[in-house]
Amino acid sequence: MEWTREMKYRTFEDVSDELFKEMKKKVKHARWRQMYHIQPISGLLNDPNGLVYHEGLYHVFYQWHPFGAIHGMKYWYHVTSPDLVHFTDEGVAISPDTLFDSHGAYSGSAIVVDNEMKLVYTGNHRTKDWERVPYQVISTLKGNEDSEKKVFVKGAPNGYTEHFRDPKVWYDENTEYYYAVIGAQRVDKTGAIVVYQSKDFNHWELKGELKTDYSSFGYMWECPDYFNLDGKGVVLFCPQGIERKGDAFRNRYQSGYLLGHLDIKSLKFDHYQFEELDYGFDFYAPQTLKGAQEERILIGWMGLPETTYPTDKDGWAHCLTIPRVLSVQDNHLFQQPIKALQQLRHSKKREVLTINDDSLVLEEWKGTHYELLIDVLDNQASHFHIDIRQSGDEYTRCSYDAKARSFTFDRSLSGALPEGVDGTTRVVQLSNALDHMQIFVDTSSVELFLNGGQYVFSSRIFPNASSDGIRIVSENGNVTFDITKYNLKEG
Ligand code: FRU
Repeated sequence: MEWTREMKYRTFEDVSDELFKEMKKKVKHARWRQMYHIQPISGLLNDPNGLVYHEGLYHVFYQWHPFGAIHGMKYWYHVTSPDLVHFTDEGVAISPDTLFDSHGAYSGSAIVVDNEMKLVYTGNHRTKDWERVPYQVISTLKGNEDSEKKVFVKGAPNGYTEHFRDPKVWYDENTEYYYAVIGAQRVDKTGAIVVYQSKDFNHWELKGELKTDYSSFGYMWECPDYFNLDGKGVVLFCPQGIERKGDAFRNRYQSGYLLGHLDIKSLKFDHYQFEELDYGFDFYAPQTLKGAQEERILIGWMGLPETTYPTDKDGWAHCLTIPRVLSVQDNHLFQQPIKALQQLRHSKKREVLTINDDSLVLEEWKGTHYELLIDVLDNQASHFHIDIRQSGDEYTRCSYDAKARSFTFDRSLSGALPEGVDGTTRVVQLSNALDHMQIFVDTSSVELFLNGGQYVFSSRIFPNASSDGIRIVSENGNVTFDITKYNLKEG
């Protein structure tokens, strides 16, 4: 289908109830629907927005285009949860219903101020000549809907283009100021982060640009985030326009972090080098929040812009990642699946297995929704592979090369493939031998956590439903695994 501009920017006022009902029905029965991931009831989901924990409930919002798998008019969709595992559908939270968000309520964050939930986002406006004007907006969530939209920055400040969006706000107890970091493009077409501050949350002033060592690193930085963790300052952002460097930076756009120390007064950020957050095929625009135990939790979009996915034809696209808890170890960010996900576990199986230069199909272990925990007790093999979602010639391969100490995620033979993606493997060099893997499999995704969350791979796969086998292969020697599998039930 050819998407005209008119089709892309339809709102609920332009689409009949019957038509939307039909869209939802088609999606409900589509193959590849996930079991325990947040996914759209119809249309396209992208960035997680407004993550916040308030009065015992987690609020997760996301970018949503309701009418087909295309980036068009964006709404904020809202779900809530006591544990980030079981979710209640709250429907639309922000509709693009004013002049300043006439072409989409774009990404942003949430914060509780005086016991009110404030949603802080970018209104995307296009003029008649299709020129983009970004507005930074604060809206108050009352019940399930937002109200009182107030613009606090109109357009982009001097020195920046109209690519100016995705405010992430926080309160700093030391300075007693609210801050907002905003993703920006300088007029010389390089990416940056711009900081605003406010004493009372109503009046905001431009503070300046975050000063990093990356003065020319891509043409736009989207979705910035800033927080303190384990004594370090952490800046997350998504630079666009970074060239591939060997096995690094292979996705269309990158998502990574800088770890260091921020002097909030001068905005000088001293940091280590940029690192990717995730080594899989499908990860972008993550956002973090402080959880019930003050832990730092991250949720990402398991998708990328400008890529055609096999579900598009079924009228829906994308999901969010499972939530992960962050920690700093040896000046790197580690990510581990939140413990609450253990509530989904059932039907445990456990075995200690040795395979010698052989291939073993775990006949009793079939499945399409499960968690695998694998301890590598001893490895004399040059390579080993864990094949999941396997049957006949179809499988998704997780491979370890012991000599090179490299790990490869291979979806060449996984089934249907997204289009517009560079290659079918993703590789990372590990700093230590691989000794632990935690693998989450859902109908159409795989999330891998290696060596206690030091390396994470998030990827969509689109296999046949009947590809449900698990196979283990060792090459040139013995490998002994302690393997546990839990089936996972619906979230
Ligand atoms: C990132 C992004 C944001 C923007 C939103 C629009 O994926 O491009 O920069 O606010 O998506 O949906």
